[in-house]
Amino acid sequence: MTITTNFATSRTEIAGHSITDLANQFGTPLYVYDSAVIAQRVADLQMFDDIRYAQKALSNIAILDRLRKQNVLVDAVSAGEIHRALAAGYEPHGEGHPIVYTADIFDREALELVKKHGIHVNCGSPDMIDQLGEVVPGADITLRINPGFGHGHSQKTNTGGPQSKHGIWHGDLDECQRRADRYGITITGLHMHIGSGTDLEHLSKVCDSMRDAALSVGRTITTISAGGGLPVRYKKEETYVDLAAYYKLWNTVREELQTEFDHAVRLEIEPGRYLAAECGYLVTEIRAIKNMGENMFYLVDAGFNDLARPILYGAHHPISICSRSGAEDRPLVNVVVGGPLCESGDIFTQEEGGFVSHRELPRAEVGDLLILENAGAYGFVMASNYNSRLRATELLLEDGQAKVIRSRETFEQLLASETIPS
Ligand code: LLP
Repeated sequence: MTITTNFATSRTEIAGHSITDLANQFGTPLYVYDSAVIAQRVADLQMFDDIRYAQKALSNIAILDRLRKQNVLVDAVSAGEIHRALAAGYEPHGEGHPIVYTADIFDREALELVKKHGIHVNCGSPDMIDQLGEVVPGADITLRINPGFGHGHSQKTNTGGPQSKHGIWHGDLDECQRRADRYGITITGLHMHIGSGTDLEHLSKVCDSMRDAALSVGRTITTISAGGGLPVRYKKEETYVDLAAYYKLWNTVREELQTEFDHAVRLEIEPGRYLAAECGYLVTEIRAIKNMGENMFYLVDAGFNDLARPILYGAHHPISICSRSGAEDRPLVNVVVGGPLCESGDIFTQEEGGFVSHRELPRAEVGDLLILENAGAYGFVMASNYNSRLRATELLLEDGQAKVIRSRETFEQLLASETIPS
């Protein structure tokens, strides 16, 4: 865990590249990903048998390609994500299930793709077992279990307990076994993901539930997945999960199951945020600075259409300023950071519930660059065209080079699917 965010409020470079040069060359808003950070995060998790990337966090096919080359497997939650995995060179099936479709429903496209490519399914609803059984009788499946509790950085990212739509209720395992038997389906693994951005205390509770569930299914189990959920540091005072301790807890369960079943059980982890968050920077330009009563606003050229986490969850992202004039040691001022959208909630410094908050940032000028950090996970992927804004360029910094991995959308693309009927 050698690379960490430094939480400085001034910054001139990302991975040795001048931010001003990047902004001049590629324009803003600009998503920048540092590939070395992703590689480091993959290395951190090497003790697990399999790392399966939850690509919903950052699904650009260049990122998937690089992860594939680091032997990271991939999760897909939609037909589109299956297409992405295939486009990035993942084999549809084979040893260890390179691609797993994990969802609570099959839409028709997804079921079609699963059938066509023989993709492994991690079922999140009992009905999925029947629907798969109809088209792929005799398949192996895993089950995503809701252990009856959950925890996340926000109520909206808590994926366990009776209020969550996710997974198969832990009490319904027998019923799932009956459904599987009807189609000659074998339950080969179990998976639990209780939420995103949780903590060791909650993650650890999952281990006990996994042991109980696996023992109740029995000897057909050959994999267990700890799901994702590993937090990253968005604030200086936040901490990482002790990965060694976390692994130890899971490994104990795995060893118990191996003894009980008398065969090997693979231990998988399925992070999204942990692999993708800290590599990403959203570089914006300050286009206006104004005072509203006692509040000073920096208004930048990216909005919640580019980075939705603050408006959705009151999420905190580290923010830094890059002065275009190279000015250093400028005094810190309390500011509100907002975007260009025609909606009051378009504020990057806000608490959950929409309450505007302040950030201490260097005094800036119009034209300076403002960087929203740790924005790799759930950043670009949740971007939209709201207010008919074009989605940003994505850039990968790798081996000292800046490579465009998605070009800025064009106005032609924006209108391409629309027609005016006669
Ligand atoms: N596995 C499953 C089944 C999931 O549902 C998720 C996330 C993950 C793995 C990856 O979780 P992670 O390691 O990234 O915590 N948009 C929210 C996060 C939503 C997470 C949805 N599921 C955010 O921006 O915080």
